[in-house]
Amino acid sequence: MHLSKKCSVFKVVLGALLIVALLQLLYLSFLSKFHGKQQRYKYSELFGYKKNANQGEKNPRREHLRYSLSTGGIFDASGQYRVYKNLIKSDFSTNQKPGADLRSHHLTLVTHTTINNLHHLNSLLERWKNPISVAIFAHGEDVKFATAIVYALDLFCPQVQALVDFHLVCHSGEMATFPDQDREHFMGLQEKGCPGVFAKLESHRDQFQNYAIASNVSYPNNLLRNIARSGTDSAYILVIDIDMMPSANLHHQFVTMLMKHEPAADEVLVLPAFEIRHTRKMPASKSELVQLYQVGEVRPFYDELCPRCQAPTNYSLWINLGIKASGTLEVAYTVNWVDPWEPFYIASRTVPLYDENFRQYGFNRISQACELHVAGFRFSVVSNAFVLHKGFKVQGEFHSRKDEENRRNRILFRSFKENLKSKYPNSARRC
Ligand SMILES: *[C@@H]1O[C@H](CO)[C@@H](O)[C@H](O)[C@H]1NC(C)=O
Ligand SMILES: *[C@@H]1O[C@H](CO)[C@@H](O)[C@H](O)[C@H]1NC(C)=O
Repeated sequence: MHLSKKCSVFKVVLGALLIVALLQLLYLSFLSKFHGKQQRYKYSELFGYKKNANQGEKNPRREHLRYSLSTGGIFDASGQYRVYKNLIKSDFSTNQKPGADLRSHHLTLVTHTTINNLHHLNSLLERWKNPISVAIFAHGEDVKFATAIVYALDLFCPQVQALVDFHLVCHSGEMATFPDQDREHFMGLQEKGCPGVFAKLESHRDQFQNYAIASNVSYPNNLLRNIARSGTDSAYILVIDIDMMPSANLHHQFVTMLMKHEPAADEVLVLPAFEIRHTRKMPASKSELVQLYQVGEVRPFYDELCPRCQAPTNYSLWINLGIKASGTLEVAYTVNWVDPWEPFYIASRTVPLYDENFRQYGFNRISQACELHVAGFRFSVVSNAFVLHKGFKVQGEFHSRKDEENRRNRILFRSFKENLKSKYPNSARRC
């Protein structure tokens, strides 16, 4: 009797425990199902497959991306690369009506990169705050990643959506597809938004440099520059590398300058190029830059590896111009092009294109500057603006094939110069 009483109490307790455990399980499974549903709902929303939504509700940007990818892009002149131009168009590019004259007073920043350096876009955009045209080269698995990431940038980053045009280039044997099958790339982005996308890019950074992708892959820098240039309708362009940054307010300074002094048809506006040792605090103005210059934290671009490449800019003259309080942009002096000067400059969108035969390291920008010279352009250095490369260029940090590429491109440069003679038969200038 005593024993069976004990036994039944035990049974009741055990039963209660079982029920609690069961409820727990039910609750957990309910939670996870609910969560799963929420995830699915979110993912499908990303790609416009929201089930309950009214049909008809189509996002034009997404449809544009879907369409441009479905065309398969176009091949470049060599047939080795596949080009998706204007894969994603900014609101700025989309909304301006043709004929509306705003564009004629616009300056677009033009740049190129692999997915590994695209994280620089964050600080670049923060400083520039105006239209940017970016051509991205992707290879292998990165083609999918690049497509997903530009879609995510456009989706989650209002500033990117407003201002950045993206173009994608890959090998002709590869193809980009709409990223709805690549959901792993979107993991966690929904919660973290734009900072999450840039964090993802940061974690992908510098796995390899642009020029060291793989032994048989050539980074087509000049093709990318041309694609990004022709992908914008702005009247003026500034072509820089993605790890560079212009001085602050440059766009505003330039547009203000245009009201007084429109550059001549044969004139480009040179921005002296510098490099900075530490990239934490990028100087915004000339006075900040000069302070850092005087203590050796800032020096001419390529000062150690190729001082002649920038010397014609005449840094001492530019520094000694002093600093105008008004901060306006003015032409300070004009210099003649001499080999091997490769200046960065603001120019009309119609200046000669870059020669796409140049890939990888060497002569890719010099050749274009040399053509400007032969074509009769003059190089006007402006007083109150500059471009700045993040980090010092030093010996030994380059990829292993740099010298070999430089040799190959030197030979190419020789024939390029020969061809200029027949392209500009009336020009007395040589380079
Ligand atoms: C480069 O080489 C890899 C491995 O041999 C190959 O899979 C890839 O298709 C090659 N790429 C090109 C562009 O030739
Ligand atoms: C820079 O300009 C100054 C003043 O015009 C001139 O004396 C000097 O030779 C120039 N330097 C270079 C490197 O062109």
